[in-house]
Amino acid sequence: MILVTGGAGYIGSHVAKELLFNGHDVVILDNLSTGHKETVKTLKEMAQGRKGVGELEFVFGDTGDKELLVSLLREKAVSSVVHLAAFSLVGESMQNPGKYFDNNTSRAVNILECMVECGVRNIVFSSTAAVYGEPVEVPITEDHPVKPTNVYGASKVMVEEILRWYDRIHGIKYVSLRYFNAAGADESGLIGEWHEPETHLIPIVMQKVLGQRDKLTVFGDDYPTPDGTCIRDYIHVTDLARAHILALEALEGGMGSKVYNLGNGSGYSVREVIDTVSEVVGQDVVYDIGERRAGDPAVLVASSDKIKKELGWKPGYPELKDIVRSAWKWHWG
Ligand SMILES: NC(=O)c1ccc[n+]([C@@H]2O[C@H](COP(=O)([O-])OP(=O)(O)OC[C@H]3O[C@@H](n4cnc5c(N)ncnc54)[C@H](O)[C@@H]3O)[C@@H](O)[C@H]2O)c1
Repeated sequence: MILVTGGAGYIGSHVAKELLFNGHDVVILDNLSTGHKETVKTLKEMAQGRKGVGELEFVFGDTGDKELLVSLLREKAVSSVVHLAAFSLVGESMQNPGKYFDNNTSRAVNILECMVECGVRNIVFSSTAAVYGEPVEVPITEDHPVKPTNVYGASKVMVEEILRWYDRIHGIKYVSLRYFNAAGADESGLIGEWHEPETHLIPIVMQKVLGQRDKLTVFGDDYPTPDGTCIRDYIHVTDLARAHILALEALEGGMGSKVYNLGNGSGYSVREVIDTVSEVVGQDVVYDIGERRAGDPAVLVASSDKIKKELGWKPGYPELKDIVRSAWKWHWG
């Protein structure tokens, strides 16, 4: 049994789906602070009665609840943990740092303590490109200096540091996956990106198309990039989810602790994303140009060569158009 914390959220639900469809039994622990019980219901329906698909259980609860975690790890005979549960709004983290250090950092320590107590040895951790801060070199490799410019990134760097100590002292093996921009939706269109508030570009553009938001503002068009707008690395959420399975299976097969970037390796500008949405939905998208946002680097693109080489990971949806198409299926459907 694999414990997936945050499995009612965007990325967690796709990770849970891939695990289930690869025959793993999954228990989701989620306090539904930003996740959705409807997502869990859909996951159950997707898995129900299908041959070769694992069993899904949902437990409503918090990663800070030690008693609950210990009983879960023991009673469900959990072999590995995938820890996604966290808050991830950069702006909010700068206004309310305690909320982030508490939920993202302290509660990760609680999970690790419970794992030690119950003899669970493997964990895959959701880290982020935000650990790098302002890039000194792109594409960004795992050796790039770690220098977060916001509390959200710092809360994740601390967990990575804590993981190193738990490996050294208690022999916990971990894979920390530093995701770049997760995007798109499961090919079924039944689960997808659902954040409130939404801060990610592709769903925001789709909300504009669907009349769910009045205005679409591009923050700055005078960056040193070909079209003047920021370039980011969008990775399909299913590709991201599949990397978790490779990481888990490698850990369960005896691999040591690792840190990997997860991105597509090719960047797309904000304008390219808007144009691609426009093409996919067959409608012009109206937007205006605003001021640059403080702390937004011009280009953030990952090198994912390490995970490709060591775990054989390969993106199945490298094209922006395919990522946008899958997102549209979810938003429109
Ligand atoms: N979305 C991205 O592009 C992106 C990029 C880099 C890293 N990440 C990381 O990936 C993870 C998942 O992100 P997401 O976009 O799916 O976010 P999300 O908000 O959709 O999912 C997070 C889930 O965790 C749950 N949760 C939060 N705190 C909890 C707690 N204390 N106990 C139990 N459940 C709790 C929420 O209810 C939610 O279901 C996060 O750790 C985030 O930092 C996301």
